[in-house]
Amino acid sequence: MIRKAVIPAAGFGTRFLPASKSQPKEMLPIVDTPAIQYVVEEAVRSGITDILMVIGKGKRAIEEHFDRNFELEMELGEKGKEAELESIRRISSLADIHFIWQKELNGLGDAIYCARHHIGNEPFAVLLGDTLVESSLPVTEQLINIFDRYQESVVALEEVEKSKVSRYGVVAGSQMAKDVYLIDDFVEKPSIEDAPSNLAIAGRYVLTPDIFDYIKQTARGKNNEIQLTDAMRLLVGNRAMYGYRFDGRRYDIGNKIDFIKTNISYALMREDMRTELIAFLKDVIADSGR
Ligand code: UTP
Repeated sequence: MIRKAVIPAAGFGTRFLPASKSQPKEMLPIVDTPAIQYVVEEAVRSGITDILMVIGKGKRAIEEHFDRNFELEMELGEKGKEAELESIRRISSLADIHFIWQKELNGLGDAIYCARHHIGNEPFAVLLGDTLVESSLPVTEQLINIFDRYQESVVALEEVEKSKVSRYGVVAGSQMAKDVYLIDDFVEKPSIEDAPSNLAIAGRYVLTPDIFDYIKQTARGKNNEIQLTDAMRLLVGNRAMYGYRFDGRRYDIGNKIDFIKTNISYALMREDMRTELIAFLKDVIADSGR
């Protein structure tokens, strides 16, 4: 059973400057809710009860968001704002949420390594704090189902356009079952000609705890950081690891255009906004063509 999840959210967010200079990109709102709350809700809907968030300098707002705010609760109570009161109380009771500080930003692999004592010796999920996935069955639950079948690590895969493979880490592997791949290797940002597939790593993982040993052995790689993908390459050299082409749509809110797209998509899913937003978009598009 997978009970624990790690949400790395310590990164600088250089692709989202200047907005991310003094506030975490993970706290940027998607409609009316910080991005990272959707990530926590996905974990909870997938059966996770214990979440460790890896945070760093300038990320205190994340801690505060998941803590209770008694003054605000009292204020809302006195004003009879019951719906708002319920919505903010719910946040702090979503799961057992813990925080750890990544003292130096040495990359995603290093951020995950910070979780080793908290995780102990059990398999766990990883959800990137700046990546949202819209799907009917939460993508972490989809990965847990594959883990239950094979009892080995699983990484979420997304099919990307061939012409864009060089932006992603892609996998080499063989198909085992519908949407399930046995992974041979990972290739970081390949050229179109060298890409072994167009299946990209998509920000959700279920990992066996020996990943910590492999991270420890991982030398600094791209950007002089300890990359999780490099540690996973060591892992696949020694034991099986699977990729799962999940059903859903991924949004990397850490880049500006995806952030805009995410807001539009999520607002279109809201009954209270949909009609007005469609009318507005039609209007703006018509105007921009003039
Ligand atoms: P990114 O690759 O998006 O890196 O990290 P970043 O530093 O946050 O952003 P850019 O590229 O400079 O714009 C993916 C996830 O891993 C976390 C980030 O917070 C994000 O959720 N991360 C990354 C860490 O927790 N620690 C790190 O050292 C690096």
